[in-house]
Amino acid sequence: MTAFTPQFLHFDSLPSTNVEAANRAVEGAPEGLCVVAREQTAGRGRLERQWVSSKGAGLYCSIILRPQFYQSLWPLLTLMAAIAVHDALLDVYDLETDIKWPNDILVNDRKLCGILAETVDTPLGRAVILGIGVNLKHNSFPAELEGVATSVEAATGRNADLELVVEPLFGSIVKYYQMLQHLGGSKEIVQEWSARSSYASGKRVRLVNSGEIVEGFTRGLESDGGLRIETNTGEIRIFRAGDVTAVRTVYS
Ligand code: BTN
Repeated sequence: MTAFTPQFLHFDSLPSTNVEAANRAVEGAPEGLCVVAREQTAGRGRLERQWVSSKGAGLYCSIILRPQFYQSLWPLLTLMAAIAVHDALLDVYDLETDIKWPNDILVNDRKLCGILAETVDTPLGRAVILGIGVNLKHNSFPAELEGVATSVEAATGRNADLELVVEPLFGSIVKYYQMLQHLGGSKEIVQEWSARSSYASGKRVRLVNSGEIVEGFTRGLESDGGLRIETNTGEIRIFRAGDVTAVRTVYS
């Protein structure tokens, strides 16, 4: 099992902390190197989306991991990151959040944090770059994100300071990364994730994946983090990618 002490590299501005961390990993940077920036000029989201990253308005950071377990279990790293963000926000701000599969952090159904895991081939083997973006302040969302996104300040009414969150967050990542590497760790991570997510089971959802749209009720996670959905025909399907939204039931 590998354990590490996070080592931080702070930047005022970067195109993307994920890109910087990937470059460092290729140059041989060790597991646990964390790149943090006050601003990203080309912040990346899932599915080729942009991640709005105005200066001082959020936590934008990426950590290099060099997991030594089966690559089929690497999707659990993003679940692990979501658990760690959830716990850090609870510890620091007393803020109770929800996790939307696989790894969006929500408050009142609005997105507060996104996680982007990317792999990169390096001379030391394939590495994972785990990028985390947390909206801290609310003054800078473009119009299209109003109503969809939220921030720690909007959710708590308290001043949100980057410095307060970084260390507890990476402390949590170290803790759950160790858990994941134990024998039986995947099961524990799935349990921890499920305990923090209203999406784990019994939630009516719509999932869009490569043009396919599926509706049904969530029925728990597979041991590799795949989402089970019972479709309207009663079939259980398992998804390892896709965009999930909650579907509200309207009673008349
Ligand atoms: C998502 O679409 O939900 C994932 C967003 C991930 C954003 C973070 S901010 C830090 C890191 N650097 C990036 O360019 N993206 C991730």
